[in-house]
Amino acid sequence: MDAIAQELKDRLTAGATPTIGVVGLGYVGLPLAVAFARSGAAVVGIDLDARRVAAVNAGTSFIEDVSGDALRELVDSGRLTASDDVLTLKDADAVVICVPTPLGKSREPDVSFITGAADALARVLHPGQLVVLESTTYPGTTQEVLRPRFEACGLTVGKDLFLAFSPERIDPGNTTYTLDRIPKVVGGVTPVCRELAVALYRRIIGHVVPVSSAETAEMVKLYENTFRSVNIALVNELAIMCRRLGISVWEVIGAAATKPFGFMPFYPGPGLGGHCLPSDPYYLSWRMRLSGYEPRFIAFADEINRRMPHYVTEMVADALNDRGRALKGARVLMLGVAYKANVGDVRDSPALEIMDLLRAKGADVGYHDPYVPAITVAGVKLPSIDWAQADLGRWDVAVITTAHTTYDWATIVRDAPLVVDTRNATGRLPAAPNLVRL
Ligand SMILES: NC(=O)c1ccc[n+]([C@@H]2O[C@H](COP(=O)([O-])OP(=O)(O)OC[C@H]3O[C@@H](n4cnc5c(N)ncnc54)[C@H](O)[C@@H]3O)[C@@H](O)[C@H]2O)c1
Repeated sequence: MDAIAQELKDRLTAGATPTIGVVGLGYVGLPLAVAFARSGAAVVGIDLDARRVAAVNAGTSFIEDVSGDALRELVDSGRLTASDDVLTLKDADAVVICVPTPLGKSREPDVSFITGAADALARVLHPGQLVVLESTTYPGTTQEVLRPRFEACGLTVGKDLFLAFSPERIDPGNTTYTLDRIPKVVGGVTPVCRELAVALYRRIIGHVVPVSSAETAEMVKLYENTFRSVNIALVNELAIMCRRLGISVWEVIGAAATKPFGFMPFYPGPGLGGHCLPSDPYYLSWRMRLSGYEPRFIAFADEINRRMPHYVTEMVADALNDRGRALKGARVLMLGVAYKANVGDVRDSPALEIMDLLRAKGADVGYHDPYVPAITVAGVKLPSIDWAQADLGRWDVAVITTAHTTYDWATIVRDAPLVVDTRNATGRLPAAPNLVRL
């Protein structure tokens, strides 16, 4: 290892007090910034969103997994600051990029946030720095998109600038597997780049998993999320098949899960949501198409998962119809609009699509979600109904779409005239005449 790399490694290693930049202070970036600050580093968080920058500097958390107290303490002690000016990263030893990677209109990768961040960063980079990309993206992004931008400034990756990819696996709302307890996969553009990135993450994560290249690390993330998407599609289709045959899909999954090898349970739900699962596999199919290969599993799984909100809408209509009621004019209370339990993230949430579909059929739809104070439906702001005022008996049907653990399921089934439970969760409610289960 050359002297420049060795000096950087010494600055990054646990026990040292490097300066670390985090670009993008969202679900991924803010918890990471907090973890690095707790490890003794001086952390500078960069975001284009002035409200997020102001909130961090005021010690106010906007991410459920980051406690306001912890954030305030780090800000007050000067170990964490935020800015919208990338120039504040000029003295950083390492910079981690955590910007969004959405899909474009034709479901093609939109890496414009990555290129935007990289172009800005290129203005401040100098020899002796490490840059790691954490945003989920297609294999080749680190090499083909980041490397040329940085080398155009006269730097040479692997010699005086070090570049790696490390997929983020954080699971917002998961209190068992927190950031420090999730093994971290790291792939460098060169072996030295990897060694430096491993040193960086060893500061905050117990188990770091080095892989042979940045492309491998990029592919690991896409495989993990495609694996989930395909298996969720399989179990969603199983639920549809079981319902037709009058078999409980939950009993089938529970019994199958007693097999001690070769089986892993997945659970049906109202559809995929969030920033990752509905989008990430498309990054892989797009990349494969460039190589003349059309992946089949990804498209097929997506087709099934995207149909689930329609299937749930049909279930609600059928359940009302069985009780002599029409969906048109029915009062429907949605319980949970976040895409997953115990978070307030509604990005791509299937509950929103179900609400749209129900409203299009003439239902009068309201919602309660303890984590989502308001949503915008057809350009109109719709507030969450206060639980104390919800009065379940006044609704024709309650549709459970998110498994927030704050809900008292027994009370809901007792008080609502009809409950359609579509939660993607293991805990089953006891059978009741007014309960219809996905
Ligand atoms: N949310 C998750 O659970 C999760 C889990 C694993 C991986 N990921 C991946 O991590 C990446 C980030 O996701 P997220 O959920 O944290 O997104 P987010 O939208 O919550 O946060 C991203 C932040 O980046 C900021 N930003 C955009 N461009 C910027 C730029 N040029 N400079 C500075 N800031 C910029 C945005 O203002 C935003 O605050 C995505 O690729 C996502 O797929 C997310």
